Amino acid sequence: MFEYQPSQALLANKIILITGAGDGIGKQAALSYAAHGATVVLLGRTEQKLIQVYDEIVANGGATPAIITLDLQTATTAQYAELAQLVTHEFGRLDGLLHNASLLGSLGLIEQMDIDSLETVLKVNVTAQAALTQAVMPLLRAAPSASIIFTSSSVGRKGRAFWGAYAISKFATEGMMQTLADELEDSNIRTNSINPGGTRTSMRASAYPAEDPMTLKTPADIMPVYLYLMGDDSLNDNGKAFNAQ
Ligand SMILES: NC(=O)c1ccc[n+]([C@@H]2O[C@H](COP(=O)([O-])OP(=O)(O)OC[C@H]3O[C@@H](n4cnc5c(N)ncnc54)[C@H](OP(=O)(O)O)[C@@H]3O)[C@@H](O)[C@H]2O)c1
Repeated sequence: MFEYQPSQALLANKIILITGAGDGIGKQAALSYAAHGATVVLLGRTEQKLIQVYDEIVANGGATPAIITLDLQTATTAQYAELAQLVTHEFGRLDGLLHNASLLGSLGLIEQMDIDSLETVLKVNVTAQAALTQAVMPLLRAAPSASIIFTSSSVGRKGRAFWGAYAISKFATEGMMQTLADELEDSNIRTNSINPGGTRTSMRASAYPAEDPMTLKTPADIMPVYLYLMGDDSLNDNGKAFNAQ
């Protein structure tokens, strides 16, 4: 999988929504999906960053993206419905959904965890994913085949001391992926997760401030599995946990 070499037109005619598309891995996924033919819907909370990604895609000759500025921490049911309406109006369907946006929250012992900040992390990393998935389900069902990708972490597969709210949220993410995959087994929608592994982004730098970022893979290095799961080569994969490295 790490060596997967997609065709240039792998994602031609596909409409793909990416959360947290303004920075880090989500930004790179948006650029890579667009470079392989997709029309991308860029969702994030910082409009300026989304505009920069939009401009880069257009400058590279990609299809004109759509931008949805939405803070997943405060998003309401009405805003999710509005988002679904917008995508319905513009495109009529969704072929892919990459749940990528996440908060790291504070690291530390569960014994001393601030419960309000646990709720904030769970809101962005878990509840928002469920709400967004629910809102766009009719659009995913309208596609010939659709792929939902959840973003996990190594601490979402084996618990590790001090990773608190973030680890709890990533276990919940894996649980949501497996449950949804089972529910949608006989549908046109497949659901899988990716653990990116240590990657050179600002979230990684916050978690490991003493680490030399140059020792890490870049978001571009880990794209093969992101492309594989979004394209039709993965039509038979459902309910699986992938590693990007
Ligand atoms: N980097 C790693 O080593 C690593 C390892 C394992 C798993 N992961 C996972 O990979 C995914 C991407 O991480 P990353 O390293 O690329 O992180 P990042 O550089 O911090 O990017 C996260 C993105 O999510 C967006 N976001 C955060 N909170 C949001 C909210 N409330 N509403 C809307 N958007 C929000 C951020 O928006 P702003 O730009 O506006 O802040 C940013 O664009 C995450 O799910 C992370 O848990 C990363």
